[in-house]
Amino acid sequence: MAIELNDIHSLFEIYGPRSYGSEAVTQMEHALQSAYLGEQEGASKELVVAAFLHDLGHMLGSNKRGDTETTRKNDDLHQFVALPFLRPVFPSAVVEPIGMHVEAKRCLCAIDPAYQGGLSPQSVRSLEQQGGIHTPEQAAEFQQKPFAADALRLRRWDDLAKVPGAPTPPFEHYFAMVTELYGRQSTVA
Ligand SMILES: [Fe+2]
Repeated sequence: MAIELNDIHSLFEIYGPRSYGSEAVTQMEHALQSAYLGEQEGASKELVVAAFLHDLGHMLGSNKRGDTETTRKNDDLHQFVALPFLRPVFPSAVVEPIGMHVEAKRCLCAIDPAYQGGLSPQSVRSLEQQGGIHTPEQAAEFQQKPFAADALRLRRWDDLAKVPGAPTPPFEHYFAMVTELYGRQSTVA
C-alpha cells in the first residue's frame, strides 16, 4: 500500500495544474501556499510536509476529469484516502495531521467565533457534508487527541492558501523535504 516518491511526484505533475475545486488557485498553488504558510510560522519539517501533502487524497481520489469533493454531491472523505498510502512511509507527525485536517475545521468553527466567517464559500458548503460544527463536547474531545494542535495549525494554513498568484518557493523545495522524511515511518508497514 505504500506510496512511492515517484507516485507523489507524478500526482502533483498530473493534478497540480488542475483547479482546486471552485477556488481561484490550482491544486499545486494550494499545496505550495499551505506549506509555505507553515514554513513561515516556523513549523516543524514534518508539519510543513503534512501541509504540502494534506490534499493528496483529492489527487488519489480524482477521476479523469479531476472532480473533487465540491464538484461532486458527496464528501469524498479525502482526508482519509491518502492515509493507508502515507502511513507505511512517513512519520505520524506527517500522517496524523493530514487525517485530522477536516475535523479540525469543524473544531475551529466551534472554538473560534471569527474563524467561520473567514471560510471560503466552498469550504462553508462542504462543512455540512463533513459533519457540521463540533458541539462543545466534540471540540474538547478533539483537542485532547495527539496531533490535534498540529491539525488545527495546518487547517488555518489550508484556509488561507487560496490566494491567486501568491509567491511561494517552488515544488522542488517541498519535494526535497518530502524526500527527506520519506522512509521515516512511525509504524512498520
Ligand atoms: Fe486543502
